[in-house]
Amino acid sequence: MLGNFTFCNPTKLYFGKDALNGLAEELPKYGKNVLLVYGGGSIKKNGIYDKVVKILKESGKEIYEDSGVMPNPTVDKLKEGVERAKKANADLILAVGGGSVCDYAKAVSVSVNCKDDPWDKYFIRFEEPNCKIIPVGCVLTMVGTGSEMNGGSVITNHAQKLKIGHVFGENVFPRFSILDPEFTYTVPKYQMVSGIYDVMSHILEQYFSGTDDNTSDYIAEGLLRSLIHSANVAIDNPTDYEARSNIMWTATWALNTLIAKGKTTDWMVHMLGQAVAAHTDATHGMTLASVSMPYYRYIMPYGLDKFYRYAINVWDIDAKGKTKEQVASEGLDAMEKWMKKIGLVMSLFDLGATMDMLSGIVESTLIMGGGYKVLDKSEIREILRNSY
Ligand code: NZQ
Ligand code: ZN
Repeated sequence: MLGNFTFCNPTKLYFGKDALNGLAEELPKYGKNVLLVYGGGSIKKNGIYDKVVKILKESGKEIYEDSGVMPNPTVDKLKEGVERAKKANADLILAVGGGSVCDYAKAVSVSVNCKDDPWDKYFIRFEEPNCKIIPVGCVLTMVGTGSEMNGGSVITNHAQKLKIGHVFGENVFPRFSILDPEFTYTVPKYQMVSGIYDVMSHILEQYFSGTDDNTSDYIAEGLLRSLIHSANVAIDNPTDYEARSNIMWTATWALNTLIAKGKTTDWMVHMLGQAVAAHTDATHGMTLASVSMPYYRYIMPYGLDKFYRYAINVWDIDAKGKTKEQVASEGLDAMEKWMKKIGLVMSLFDLGATMDMLSGIVESTLIMGGGYKVLDKSEIREILRNSY
């Protein structure tokens, strides 16, 4: 039965080949000072920086820059960003980049006017902001996280060997996001494939939980079918607009809170992946890929009916004359075959993890309670060992 919920997603999206025109429409709503946040320089090479700066100037904005946001943004960078935003007296934080840049912008936005240490307040104590939040807008250049239309912000603390996400409420969602699929054409293949699997994982984290009949699960299956189809096309032809735009739109719906409504969710693959990243700093989607099959094979018997349904509705497994276990298992086999085909990393070794790191990764893994089996640390160890 659908549980009770409220649904409100305040992010305004501009989608398509002329989406950046939306930036000019949005800017007059905010004050003069704009903190332009971006990563390691891809936007300068592909021309997106010039396009954005032109619009900012034409809108009469004062531009302050905060560059060098790294993949898996760190708590040290967050503190630097807070100082920059304070100095700029920022009226708007404009994130131009992927999930790391968008997540970071949100973390800065809730920390500038907050007296507490942001890491302790938001990522250890999971408090909500009780200070003035600076509005955030995103120009998305890499697809995967859904950060463009959600309150998620993931920050890494290397000293504490923790990578933790806080899912903030509606007031922290980007006020607007610009989604032009062509902006993603220059994303390297490794990152594109990693992003595609991040999308798949977001959907699966919300799908593999609960036993009720729930509209969200039917939506999830549709999103998965679209994603698999478009990924197959985009891998052969990365500039196929139809495929890239469908992947971009699917990514947004995968994690804009819709498909979690009225149901329980899992998120254990993300907890395992984030623990791996806390020790290796590896690319997010690849950390998820490398732990997924050992995890799903382990929990399959506890959620057999859903895995059976997944095999049939997503992977077109023929169920005739087979047991539920056989069908469910063939579904996971098909998923694994596809993951290998699109070039995902399937072993922690390939992400730079050594066996020496195993105990530390187990230690860094947070345990969630919404999946088909609540794991203990020895089970986490076993799953991680099978992920090497
Ligand atoms: O830094 P630059 O030079 O811009 O290069 C980036 C970066 O190296 C590059 N890139 C981005 N757009 C490009 C491009 N290169 C060429 N052309 C373009 N158009 O891609 C690399 C990866 O970027 P990043 O932003 O790190 O990737 P992604 O979007 O996957 O974000 C990952 C971060 O988001 C978090 C992850 O944990 C990770 O920290 N997540 C956020 C979530 C959320 N907000 O809800 C949920 C996710 O599960 C995830 O945890
Ligand atoms: Zn993710």
